Amino acid sequence: MLIRYETPADIEAIQNLTSIAFAPMPYSEGTEAEIIRRLRLSGDLAISLIAEEDGEILGHVAFSPVTVNGVHDGWFGLGPISVTPERQRQGIGRALMAKGLELLKEMGASGCTLVGNPDVYSGAGFSSDGQLTYHDLDTRLVQRIVFREPAPSGVLRFAPAFEN
Ligand SMILES: CC(C)(COP(=O)(O)OP(=O)(O)OC[C@H]1O[C@@H](n2cnc3c(N)ncnc32)[C@H](O)[C@@H]1OP(=O)(O)O)[C@@H](O)C(=O)NCCC(=O)NCCS
Repeated sequence: MLIRYETPADIEAIQNLTSIAFAPMPYSEGTEAEIIRRLRLSGDLAISLIAEEDGEILGHVAFSPVTVNGVHDGWFGLGPISVTPERQRQGIGRALMAKGLELLKEMGASGCTLVGNPDVYSGAGFSSDGQLTYHDLDTRLVQRIVFREPAPSGVLRFAPAFEN
């Protein structure tokens, strides 16, 4: 399996994969593919990686800049992330996260945040100390991995593409 940056030829497959992967998820509003499209248009798709095997796209992850208390200080957000349903739980998501985090580090990022199920992200090094908030969500779902101290504290906001 190859992890590589997206190219224009991948865009349609990324949209389809994202729609299919999120469709059964109760927390999904069905907007994830549209969010990726908007991130790309606004120039906020800082990193977009695909997992490919035999020319088939099996997974995708996006990273974009975030703010904490209204300030962007080198922090990014992971997501949306998706793996094709029949290939989930085989390490593809983990490989996409690891590569993306490595690239963010190389870019000099302060770290990466996300909102999601800790069971999925703790193995990649994400955790919550309760100091980062996202709307009124349980702070255990608001996680981060710190490359450069201090750890972020305050209100997390994703790029405008995430807003309805
Ligand atoms: C979330 C998703 C991208 C994970 O990709 P994946 O290839 O299935 O994940 P991996 O096999 O690499 O596993 C990564 C970790 O997540 C855990 N995990 C995967 N799916 C899980 C699930 N449904 N429930 C709980 N834990 C899960 C694995 O146990 C693993 O933990 P570890 O790193 O501690 O060993 C994939 O399941 C998916 O596309 N889901 C639908 C879209 C979605 O919900 N995206 C995330 C929104 S927050």
